[in-house]
Amino acid sequence: MNNDDLKVKITQLFENSNTADELEKARVEIFGKNGLLNSFKKEIVNIPPQERKDFGLKVNSITQTAENMFSEKKDIIEKKELEEKIKGEKIDYTMPGKYRRQGALHPLSSVLEEFIELFKVFGFSVAEGPEIEKDEYNFDMLNIPANHPARGMADTFHMNHGYVLRTHTSPVQVRTMLKSKPPIKIIAPGRVYRKDDLDATHTPVFHQIEGLYIDKNVTFADLKAIITGVFKNYYGQDTEVSFRPSYFPFTEPSAEVYVTCSGCGGSGENCSTCKGTGQIEILGCGMVHPNVLRKAGIDPEIYSGWAFGLGIERIALRTCGISDIRYFYENDYRFLRNFEGV
Ligand code: PHE
Repeated sequence: MNNDDLKVKITQLFENSNTADELEKARVEIFGKNGLLNSFKKEIVNIPPQERKDFGLKVNSITQTAENMFSEKKDIIEKKELEEKIKGEKIDYTMPGKYRRQGALHPLSSVLEEFIELFKVFGFSVAEGPEIEKDEYNFDMLNIPANHPARGMADTFHMNHGYVLRTHTSPVQVRTMLKSKPPIKIIAPGRVYRKDDLDATHTPVFHQIEGLYIDKNVTFADLKAIITGVFKNYYGQDTEVSFRPSYFPFTEPSAEVYVTCSGCGGSGENCSTCKGTGQIEILGCGMVHPNVLRKAGIDPEIYSGWAFGLGIERIALRTCGISDIRYFYENDYRFLRNFEGV
């Protein structure tokens, strides 16, 4: 086969290849061990020595041309086959999508976080304290003397060496006052513990948010304004927020705060949520007792302040529309999944 015949043959082989398989066959026939190019090269023995250089150049050039043709044809075939494959594929719009569960905050966490945001609006920042607390901070520093009923073995989980599981978030008041000088404006969310038997309205662990505001000239009016504002923002502007006298050892005067019952809208008729009263108690509060300020190194002649403590579970029960607190702690997905995407 001479040079020109070889070129024609190679060109034809590529032209006749229309699929990847055919192209592969052509490739072997041309470039293979016993292929056209190798057979052609072998003819060098029949070439007179002075023409061999030229012959070599021809072989190289024709090999180069063949390689170019091969890769061009390969591109064309691959593109064509891909297009045909895409044409053959159909999207089935009726197939169900892949649903991915997003997960969500636990209802107690979301109520807690919502209140944190509502208090931040009024300039409160978040403080924290340990759940294993000195009984001195949990009681003494809060003006709860040794013979006070709240200190009895009945309510408190006692630890060794003068420690308890905190029974309320109020010791964070003490820690904050010992650590920083007024003005102080903090909330302290967290877990608290009491020796209660588990039933629909009690768990031995629950959550509170403590609040503490101390500065010069802080009055009960500030307390009323902020607490009223926060709960109107949470429950709606037409919610009534009322204050009734109460008693806590660490505040004087003290109050309990009630809001319009969300179950009956305040009428109380046949309402199991408020037991017919039309209102529900949501927190305890009051002006920080001068003894508490003094013990923490703050001069009650110069500074005044107020504090509150609210229970998250009570609020969350109503927000979630359930009547049994144990749902919050059982980790039952049939309950928790209701709050996905909320
Ligand atoms: N610590 C009180 C409780 O657990 C609530 C409270 C906090 C009351 C701060 C007044 C001021 O019941």
